Amino acid sequence: MDRIAIIGGARLNGEIPVSGAKNSAIKLMAASLLTDEPLRLTNMPRLADTRFLGKLLSRLGVSVTESDGPDGQQTILHAPEITSGFAPYDLVRQMRASFNVLGPLIARTGQAKVSLPGGCTIGARPVDLHLQALEALGAKIDLHEGYVYAQAPRGLKGAEITFPFVSVGATEHAMLAAVIADGVTVLHNAACEPELLDLQECLNAMGAKVEGAGTPTVTITGVARLHGATHAVIPDRIEMGTYAVAAAMAGGEVRLTNARPHLIDSLLDKLEEAGCGVERTSDGVIIRRNGERLKAVDIETAPYPGFATDLQAQFMALMTLADGESRIRETIFENRFMHAPELMRLGADISVSGGEARVRGVAQLEGAEVMATDLRASVSLVIAGLAARGETIVSRIYHLDRGFERLEAKLTACGAQVRRIKDDGEAEL
Ligand code: EPZ
Repeated sequence: MDRIAIIGGARLNGEIPVSGAKNSAIKLMAASLLTDEPLRLTNMPRLADTRFLGKLLSRLGVSVTESDGPDGQQTILHAPEITSGFAPYDLVRQMRASFNVLGPLIARTGQAKVSLPGGCTIGARPVDLHLQALEALGAKIDLHEGYVYAQAPRGLKGAEITFPFVSVGATEHAMLAAVIADGVTVLHNAACEPELLDLQECLNAMGAKVEGAGTPTVTITGVARLHGATHAVIPDRIEMGTYAVAAAMAGGEVRLTNARPHLIDSLLDKLEEAGCGVERTSDGVIIRRNGERLKAVDIETAPYPGFATDLQAQFMALMTLADGESRIRETIFENRFMHAPELMRLGADISVSGGEARVRGVAQLEGAEVMATDLRASVSLVIAGLAARGETIVSRIYHLDRGFERLEAKLTACGAQVRRIKDDGEAEL
C-alpha cells in the first residue's frame, strides 16, 4: 500500500485550484440512472470514489466516459437502458454513497436489490431514514440477508416526508427518487448543505421540478421523464477548507481559486478568530500566517451552515500547535476522533471524552509514522506533518485518494515537501 512522506517546516506559498466536490459528484453521477439520455458532468474530480461509483453504474447499464472536454475534466454518463437492478455488497460496502443508486433504480424501473452498506470507522451510519423516505414514496421494502429488496411496480407517488433529524444522504436520496414520482413531494427538515442545491440545479437542468434545496423545505413536483443535460459540479468546500487549514498550519500565503469561500464561512471565521489572515476574493480566498502562533479556539460540528464535521479532523490538527486549550465537539458522528491518537503519536496533547476532545497546544510536533483511518483523518495527519519537525509517514493513504485529487502535487506546488512512497518502495513526487 502506498504511503505519503512529509518533511515538515516548509511554509506554503502559491496557488491551489480547488477541484469539483466529491460529495456532490457522486450523487450527480447517480442521477444519470434517471434518464435514457446522456448526462455530461463538468468540473469532475478524478478520485477513487468517482471511479468506484462509475464501476457500479457500469454494471447497472450506464456507460461512463471520462475525458478532457472543452471546459476541463468531464464525465459523460449514459443509461439508455437499465440492464441490472442489482448492487452487490462488495461494491456498496467499499463506498457507502453507492447505496444512493437504490432510489433512482426504483424510480426508473420499479425494482432494485441493493446491499445495505454496513457501518464504517466514523460511526454506525444506519440508512433507516433513506428507507423510510422511499417507503413514504410508495416503495415496498424488504430486508433479507443484508440486502434491500425494493419494489414499486406502479411507480413512486409523491408524499410529505418529515425527517426526524437532518441527514444529507437521506435528503439527497429522497430527491433523486421523487423527481420522476407521480405528484408532489415535500421534504421537511431537509439537509441544507450546498451539495443539495447542486443536485437540485442538475436535476432541474434534466427537466425536473425541484425547489427549495439549500433550505429545510424542498418541494419536488414529479415529471414524467427527465432528459440529458450538462452540469458543472460545485467546487469542493471541504477540499478548500482543508487547504485553508494546511496554509494556516504551515504558515505562508496561499491563494485558493475556483472556489466559493462563503460555503466555508464557519471555518474561515474560526481561522480569523485564531489569528490567521483570511481575505475572501471573487473566486476563492487567500490564507496568510506570518509565523505568529495561532490562538486556541473552540468548535462544535453541526449541519450546514454550522462547522462541517468533514473539517473537524483538520481543525484539530491545527489546534495541536495553537496557544491554549481548544474544545472540539463532534455532534454528527459518534466515533469521529480516530485521528486523535495518531496526532498524539506526533506529540499532540489531546484527551477525548465522549463527543468532546480537548486539545492543549504544544510548542512543537515531531514527525513519526502514523496511520490513516478515514478520508478526513488521513488529511489531518498530512496537515500536522507539514508543521512537524522531521519526517512524518502516513500509511493507508488509499483513504486520501478517495477524496483528494492530486494532493501531493497541489501541496508541493506551494513549496511543501510531500512525496508518495509507492508500494514497491520507490518514491514518486
Ligand atoms: C454525508 O454523509 C457526507 N458523505 C459525509 O462526508 C459528511 O460527513 C456527512 O454527510 C455530514 O455532512 C457524502 O456526501 C458521501 P448524514 P451522510 O446522513 O449523508 C445519521 C466524507 O468524509 N443517520 O447527514 O452519510 C448518521 O449516522 C464523508 O466525505 C441515521 O441515523 O451523512 C449520522 O450520525 C464522511 N440514519 C447523521 O445521521 C440515516 O438513515 C448524519 O448523517 C441516515 C443518517
